[in-house]
Amino acid sequence: MASVAGQLIVGNWKMNGTLVQADRFAGEMLTSLEAEPITRDRLVVCPPATLLADLSVLLAGSDIAVGAQDCHTGEEGAYTGDISALLLADCGASYVIVGHSERRTGHQEGDTLIAAKAHAAIAAGLIAIVCVGETEAEREAGQALDIVARQVRHSVPRGATIETCVIAYEPVWAIGTGKTPTLSEIATVHGHLRACTAELGPEMVSALLLYGGSVKPGNAAEIKAIDGVDGCLVGGASLIAADFLAIARA
Ligand code: PGA
Repeated sequence: MASVAGQLIVGNWKMNGTLVQADRFAGEMLTSLEAEPITRDRLVVCPPATLLADLSVLLAGSDIAVGAQDCHTGEEGAYTGDISALLLADCGASYVIVGHSERRTGHQEGDTLIAAKAHAAIAAGLIAIVCVGETEAEREAGQALDIVARQVRHSVPRGATIETCVIAYEPVWAIGTGKTPTLSEIATVHGHLRACTAELGPEMVSALLLYGGSVKPGNAAEIKAIDGVDGCLVGGASLIAADFLAIARA
């Protein structure tokens, strides 16, 4: 059974969103949630860092948490252009995504660096959302399960627990493409990920496992119902309040 205790629905805005758009998004979310509250699923919105402080204020008092999309491994210092987990927490973030495939590919981030970022996030009191996922070539070569297992083993830091660390399975070829694995392919990977979290130790055995990659209002219900899926990481569809809410309500 998929988790019926309520799922974690995380929106990743990537490099999108102005202050005007964030203001409108927050207004639409709050109006809709007031009329029809979501009591089971937990919602998190991860805007660009430029909007974290404002969105935290706009959503204050609601049940919607705010998260960031990346963090540095250190706490502070001479790292021009970087943002530490401590600074993210200071402007209202309670989650941070690390190891998204767009960072792994676009910024050559490897598992060791990602584990260090997740470690820093947890040390700063944030919940780390560690992303894993295979490329299309890796899937075609039959390596998907091995790739995600390696990424989980090396990207989740020592000391992570189910309270401080969430894992998101995002097949690279499904991100922003409108393509998704079949429901049984997702179930297979999530079953494998569960075995991997058990290997990490008792503190991570029941960690939340999200699916991400072209989740939309139209496919959210069937994805959320998959055995072993505890929620979704949503890119494009999270920019539109109505779509993000439809996914949460699916
Ligand atoms: P998508 O992105 O929903 O637009 O496919 C998901 C993600 O990158 O987290």
